[in-house]
Amino acid sequence: MALSVSEVILVFLLSISEVISQCPPSSGIYLRHDGNCYTNGSYFFDADIRGASNSIMCVLFDTTLNGGEWVNVTSGSSVNCSTNPLRCNEVSSPNANISLYIDGGVMSSDDGWYKCCLPTNCSDFNTNIVFANIFRWVQIETITVDLPSDITVLPQTYTLHAIKIGSNDHSSFLHAANWYYESGSSSTQLCTGSRASYSCTFMYGNGMSVDYGSGRWDYTLTVTWSGDTITSGVLSQSNNNGDHVFRFYLDFGHIYHSPVQRNRDIFVTGK
Ligand SMILES: *[C@@H]1O[C@H](CO)[C@@H](O)[C@H](O)[C@H]1NC(C)=O
Ligand SMILES: *[C@@H]1O[C@H](CO)[C@@H](O)[C@H](O)[C@H]1NC(C)=O
Ligand SMILES: *[C@@H]1O[C@H](CO)[C@@H](O)[C@H](O)[C@H]1NC(C)=O
Ligand SMILES: *[C@@H]1O[C@H](CO)[C@@H](O)[C@H](O)[C@H]1NC(C)=O
Ligand SMILES: *[C@@H]1O[C@H](CO)[C@@H](O)[C@H](O)[C@H]1NC(C)=O
Repeated sequence: MALSVSEVILVFLLSISEVISQCPPSSGIYLRHDGNCYTNGSYFFDADIRGASNSIMCVLFDTTLNGGEWVNVTSGSSVNCSTNPLRCNEVSSPNANISLYIDGGVMSSDDGWYKCCLPTNCSDFNTNIVFANIFRWVQIETITVDLPSDITVLPQTYTLHAIKIGSNDHSSFLHAANWYYESGSSSTQLCTGSRASYSCTFMYGNGMSVDYGSGRWDYTLTVTWSGDTITSGVLSQSNNNGDHVFRFYLDFGHIYHSPVQRNRDIFVTGK
């Protein structure tokens, strides 16, 4: 499945997305939500940012608000702080500070990237910019690989992780949680999950889903690659150098309320 150009840019932009314990030391633009600081490009579940008291605060310490704004990256338009569904509170001193929150319901077209610019507007080249993703249902927060310490030794066994965040009502809303092996234009399904079950039946992989708590699920896929000795099966498809592309796919949500489809790729470089 092909990603659009904007998805590729955003996947690149936002590959790091996690809570950090401290806000940047008194300089630089930052995001704060529910007492924690978030790195540039973090993901926010819509249910977590409903109401002014649950807003995403965007702050630039020691500056005065001078045209700063939140912009909807999809449309390029400024978020109007006084209309639903995304509202904001603007504070101009002692720090330029615009808190963004949801009032009412978001639609599928509101799902996506927003950027906060402070203290001036986003068209000012000298402004400070930070990105946030507001999502409905679920997102794939990160996708990573644990490579063996010596990647020159065969066979190699490595584990892929896809961290799913957002709604945890799998029994009602999870339609698919799949891993694929990508080769040229073809995709081979390695694992499949739906409702409460998750399994990988493919000959080179096995997997599981682990509840990390705090709304995080780790869908793992363990792959053993034996190098050139593999002569059949997807991992040997015209690819003997150990470089492989895997994709994690989620389809989640109430079927009458615009379920979401998410995709993230990972490129695994062999020896
Ligand atoms: C963001 O932009 C998209 C595309 O124009 C639009 O459909 C959506 O309503 C916008 N959402 C908000 C909250 O501005
Ligand atoms: C924001 O929305 C309000 C209410 O609809 C409107 O009066 C105001 O002009 C809008 N502001 C901008 C900058 O478009
Ligand atoms: C930002 O504004 C909110 C109110 O919208 C306020 O609660 C918060 O303390 C402000 N943060 C900073 C760092 O100025
Ligand atoms: C953005 O800021 C620049 C510099 O302050 C200003 O010239 C421009 O008119 C502003 N644009 C908008 C849309 O407010
Ligand atoms: C956030 O990421 C964007 C895109 O990579 C970058 O332009 C911006 O400067 C970053 N902001 C901060 C505060 O690092």
